[in-house]
Amino acid sequence: MKKGLALCSALAVVFALGGGVSYAHKDATGIVKERMDLMSGIAKSMKSIAQMVKSGEVDAHAARAAGKRIAEHASEIASLFPEGSIEGDSEATPAIWENFEDFSKKASALQAAAQSLADTPVDSIDRQALAGELQNLGGACKSCHETYRQKKG
Ligand code: HEC
Repeated sequence: MKKGLALCSALAVVFALGGGVSYAHKDATGIVKERMDLMSGIAKSMKSIAQMVKSGEVDAHAARAAGKRIAEHASEIASLFPEGSIEGDSEATPAIWENFEDFSKKASALQAAAQSLADTPVDSIDRQALAGELQNLGGACKSCHETYRQKKG
C-alpha cells in the first residue's frame, strides 16, 4: 500500500471512532457503567495515538504506553460482561452471550494488537509505523462493535 494511503485510512478509522460520538452512559450504573468507563478509557488512548499520527509529532514512549494501557483494559473486557447484563442505557447486544467465546476472542485480538504496539522497539515507531498500528487497533474495535454493540442515540 502506498504510504499516503495507509495514513489516510488510519485516520479514517479514528474519525469513525471519535467524531461526534455521543456517549450514552449518563444514567448507567454498576457493571454497565464500569465497562462504559473502561471503553471510554480505551477510546482516550486511541485518540492520543491518532493525534500523533495526525500531527506527525510522534512520541514513541507515549505511544508504547498507550498500547500498554489499551492491552490492560482489553484484558478486562470479558469479565465486565456477566451473562444478560443489558440494563438501562447499555448498548450491548444479546449476541454477546450467544457467542461468548467469539466475543472473548475479539477482546483478546484487541489485547494482542495493543500489546504489539507496546512491545515495538522505540526506534521503530515512526509516523508510518504508528499509522499501521492504529489501523490494526481500529480494526479490532470495529470487528467487535459491528456485532456486539448496538448504538443508541
Ligand atoms: C470484545 C468486544 C469489544 C472490543 C474489542 C471493543 N469494544 Fe468498545 N464496546 C463494546 C461493547 C459491547 C460496548 C457497549 C457496552 C454497553 O453499552 O454496555 C462498547 C462500547 C464502547 C464505547 C461507548 C462507551 C460508553 O460510554 O457508552 C466506546 C467509546 C468504545 N466501545 C470504544 C472502543 C474502542 C476505541 C475500541 C478499540 C480500541 C473498542 N471499543 C473495542 C465491545 C468492544
